Amino acid sequence: MSAAAATLAFGLAGTSQAAAPTLREAADATGRFIGTAVNDGLLNNSTYRNIAASEFDSVTAENAMKWEAVEPQRGQYNWAGGDRLVQFAQQNDQLVYGHTLVWHSQMPQWLQNGSFSNSELRTIMTDHVTTQVGRYRGDVQRWDVVNEAFNEDGSLRQSKFYQQLGESYIADAFRAARAADPNAKLFINDYNTEVRNAKSDGLFRLVQRLKSQGVPIDGVGFQNHLIVGNVNGSAIQQNLQRFADLGLEVVITELDIRMRTPSDSSKLQQQARDYRAVADACLAVSACSGITVWGISDRDSWVPDTFPGEGDACPWDGNYQPKPAYHALLTAFTDAAGDPGGPGEDPEDPEDPGEPGTGSCTAVFTVANRWATGSVVNVTVRTTQALNGWRAEFDLPSGVTVANGWNGGFSQSGARVTVTNAAYNGTVAAGGTFSFGFQTNGGAAQDGTAVSLGGQRCAAG
Ligand code: G3I
Repeated sequence: MSAAAATLAFGLAGTSQAAAPTLREAADATGRFIGTAVNDGLLNNSTYRNIAASEFDSVTAENAMKWEAVEPQRGQYNWAGGDRLVQFAQQNDQLVYGHTLVWHSQMPQWLQNGSFSNSELRTIMTDHVTTQVGRYRGDVQRWDVVNEAFNEDGSLRQSKFYQQLGESYIADAFRAARAADPNAKLFINDYNTEVRNAKSDGLFRLVQRLKSQGVPIDGVGFQNHLIVGNVNGSAIQQNLQRFADLGLEVVITELDIRMRTPSDSSKLQQQARDYRAVADACLAVSACSGITVWGISDRDSWVPDTFPGEGDACPWDGNYQPKPAYHALLTAFTDAAGDPGGPGEDPEDPEDPGEPGTGSCTAVFTVANRWATGSVVNVTVRTTQALNGWRAEFDLPSGVTVANGWNGGFSQSGARVTVTNAAYNGTVAAGGTFSFGFQTNGGAAQDGTAVSLGGQRCAAG
């Protein structure tokens, strides 16, 4: 969606009670996509479908485009699941991220167990890539051409392809994909490569080799199957940046952040901070084009099957209610949209809420949209002191009331509005920001309205 369309959508939302932007609206305003893995079997669940359609502008097939699903018998293709996803995406104005063409896992039995000469296996692989990418030419914008090619020590995994064909299977897969759809962006994708380590170093060296050989690779996908409390946002950002510096696009492709179950409120708040850290890492790297979360709801996630006793890794809970992690993602995008250079990145820009003014806080009070009887407002406050819980106050014009708000608890007495932190955004580091937003009735708010924090007036940001 274009920025203009996103603004229009905000306006339409403003005429109903649904005032908060959706994830896709907020991500769009930053020039990024926000995607989810879609489970084909759940597309007939209306709650699931509605969230997938309204909150995301990119979809990845969780399983339906894998080799075992697409080519269950040699040369016999089953496009049903992939076609359903593409149709869903077209109905909902979404991108499609193709996952995945060449992978050691979820191969069909005939391929897994079959004996083939090296040249026959190479032809099987390139035929598969050519056929699948050709089938979806123009419909799939990005492909994970090669998935999970690495061992943890940075060496190449001993997959059937590597064992028989050597490293050249990777270049051949990319060349076949490029020939089948010259406009699709081609990615290599892996897990445990989010930060700098032996595995990501191996990936880095491979990508350098591929580029020096003229292999058509456009980007690197970082899966980000992470663990609550074990997320280092700045290490993720630095690692994304070093791949971006090779001239590549980078994407967070399979984000989820698991915990030991059952969850509790402190784990959920930590999870929200961790989601925010990953989103901020992407948003700080201009070549990071988007974030895909690996599933919508905790009830549908792959995690408990693979890691018994762990789960609750998704942005929506088992009842399809948004969790603090959802709000953290949303706020990461809305904050970044209000501050295009990133917090504090442009010291010359007086509009940058990242720049502390005089006093203990600065505030940017922005009317994002207005119409005859209302408006949508975003507020970002930066504090010079660490906060453990906050209270922000401001006055609205006479007759203007808060209809509903997000990322805080709202009360109004006359013109005075008081906003207190939500469960997930009360802890703010010194120099950090928090944001909230709301819709008004009875007229529009005014840009630049003064805000106070804990009774002290903030400087205009
Ligand atoms: O299709 C069969 C079905 O016929 C059968 O009745 C059923 C019984 O269990 O199993 C079905 O297959 C399952 C398949 O998903 C499709 O639903 C497999 O058991 C199940 O193991 C498989 O899990 C998927 C997993 O990849 C396989 O490795 C997960 O849903 C999927 O989320 C996960 O995704 C991977 C990414 O592709 C790559 N990165 C890691 C990520 C998480 O493991």
